[in-house]
Amino acid sequence: MSTGSIRQGGGALEDIVSLIPIGGPRQKITVASLREKKLQHQPITCLTAYDYASARLVDEASIDIVLVGDSLAMTMLGYPDTLSVTVDEMLHHTRAVRRGVKHALLVADMPYGSYHFSADDAVRNAARFMKEAGAEAVKIEGGEKRADLIRRVIDAEIPVAGHIGLTPQSVNVMGGYKVQGKSLAEIEQLMRDAVALDQAGVAFLVLEGIPREVAAMITAEITTPTIGIGAGPDCDGQVLVFHDILNLTFAPAAKFVRHYGDAAALIKDAVQAYREDVISHQYPADGESYHLSKETQQALETVLERKRGMRR
Ligand code: KIV
Repeated sequence: MSTGSIRQGGGALEDIVSLIPIGGPRQKITVASLREKKLQHQPITCLTAYDYASARLVDEASIDIVLVGDSLAMTMLGYPDTLSVTVDEMLHHTRAVRRGVKHALLVADMPYGSYHFSADDAVRNAARFMKEAGAEAVKIEGGEKRADLIRRVIDAEIPVAGHIGLTPQSVNVMGGYKVQGKSLAEIEQLMRDAVALDQAGVAFLVLEGIPREVAAMITAEITTPTIGIGAGPDCDGQVLVFHDILNLTFAPAAKFVRHYGDAAALIKDAVQAYREDVISHQYPADGESYHLSKETQQALETVLERKRGMRR
């Protein structure tokens, strides 16, 4: 596939004939394969991605689920929380991710306000993620109280992932990003939430910011795969934010975040080195420049010489 872009590939424009096709010989992950993984006790991997490049890298690393999380409000758009991101913004990012994902299950977050007014609204917005952006499932925050609404979306042939515990869209009700499920009453509610969503038929259930012991109880109780974030190691799988594992968030990391690389340092060093090369005339070198052919150069010399002669 030729892209026609001189920025892609290392050679001159005329040398670029192909790019490596995305993906390898890997099976497509589906909602059914996630259930199978739970049955086989095979850990499920999930990471967020918000654009084409990160989606390709995550998919090519064989991650099972790519989540276009509404955390992109913070990581990509610089908002202080997830509340202001819109359906149209989420669709824009989901389309870009769609173009980079071949094998992982592609899940898009339903943003705040897209399912809070009515079930009809929820179905209409969820359908937009499938039709206009190629998502294979949507994620909706909230437990027992959302079970009927989630059933309506599933009835419209749209797989839904649940999300309980610390649900960032409820930050103002929770009074901050606090670990949930610490008292007996809260644990009981979380169990009811998990069972209600399990019975509603969610594709998987994200457990965020709850004690390890509670996540383990839920995971053992329900047939739906559980995917933990800040919920300990006993869930059926784990999810983290792409920018968190790469130290790209410009904020102190939460307790559960592990940095697997320092992209901030890498990018800063590369940008500084580029700047220094430009201001010291080290970049671009002659070998990084395009050249005229010898014949054209000679012809050009002749033309210039003639012009100079006419001016004399
Ligand atoms: O928005 C998001 O990134 C999420 C995950 C972290 C679960 O909801």
